[in-house]
Amino acid sequence: MPGLLEGKVALITGGARGMGEAEARLFVAEGARVVIADVLDDEGAALADSLGENALYRHLDVSDEANWAALVTDIEEVYGGLDILVNNAGILRFGGIAETSLEDYLQVVNINQVGCFLGIRSVIAPMQKRGGGAIVNISSVDGMKGSAGLVSYASSKWAVRGITKVAAAELGAIGIRINSVHPGGIQTAMTPSPEDSPLSAAFVSRLPLPRIGQPEDVARTVLFLASDQSAYTTGCEFPVDGGYVNCRKLPGA
Ligand SMILES: NC(=O)c1ccc[n+]([C@@H]2O[C@H](COP(=O)([O-])OP(=O)(O)OC[C@H]3O[C@@H](n4cnc5c(N)ncnc54)[C@H](O)[C@@H]3O)[C@@H](O)[C@H]2O)c1
Repeated sequence: MPGLLEGKVALITGGARGMGEAEARLFVAEGARVVIADVLDDEGAALADSLGENALYRHLDVSDEANWAALVTDIEEVYGGLDILVNNAGILRFGGIAETSLEDYLQVVNINQVGCFLGIRSVIAPMQKRGGGAIVNISSVDGMKGSAGLVSYASSKWAVRGITKVAAAELGAIGIRINSVHPGGIQTAMTPSPEDSPLSAAFVSRLPLPRIGQPEDVARTVLFLASDQSAYTTGCEFPVDGGYVNCRKLPGA
């Protein structure tokens, strides 16, 4: 049976590890040719090698406009076009409003928010040449709630959710769909596992689905949104969070 992404070319930012790595593995298994882009050159190159001839690694700092232009040209030369973009690269910094310097705030915004904007803008022309495409933006449950101590991260992830809807409204007529995914606690380098952190264990124990998420849980939702299985879906938001955003258990329940 052909894979869900047979014949497609996909670019995954922040693809060297974590959720991006899981997406790269799943996309290649589903028949795509995948460009893994990251600032972690050794990890990214090793991952691409392990995935064989349908994956390659390229350096990309998502906050750098010139990097984006060069990468998109490179992908068109190597693979002849681009069908899918996963804006996955991101960083997390803790800090409340009063303690956060402008420099620290902008560092997060430049990667999480500006990086997403540059990514969308960079792929419009190549996707239009192919008759359309799919963009999946990785936001967070922190792009759906206000969490104390996460001012830069939550602000940037709300912006990712917002630009998703603007882009969906603007780009649907040229065949480009764009949706956002909102992971909860997912076991990667970014989030401590319940085994290592009492705080993480307490958080997970209160979830309707009381376990930490795995990168593959997110990757399967991203696959659906990147593939033609979601051909009539755009501008939507998809929590992958064990029920965190939409449900709650009252104390004692
Ligand atoms: N882990 C979680 O619990 C969680 C929850 C919600 C959302 N997210 C989001 O999911 C995405 C993936 O995170 P993850 O959990 O896999 O963490 P991770 O740290 O393992 O992966 C993030 C990747 O982004 C890359 N990156 C960072 N800055 C970059 C830049 N300037 N240019 C290109 N690449 C850059 C990193 O090198 C890394 O490979 C992020 O956007 C993150 O905010 C994570």
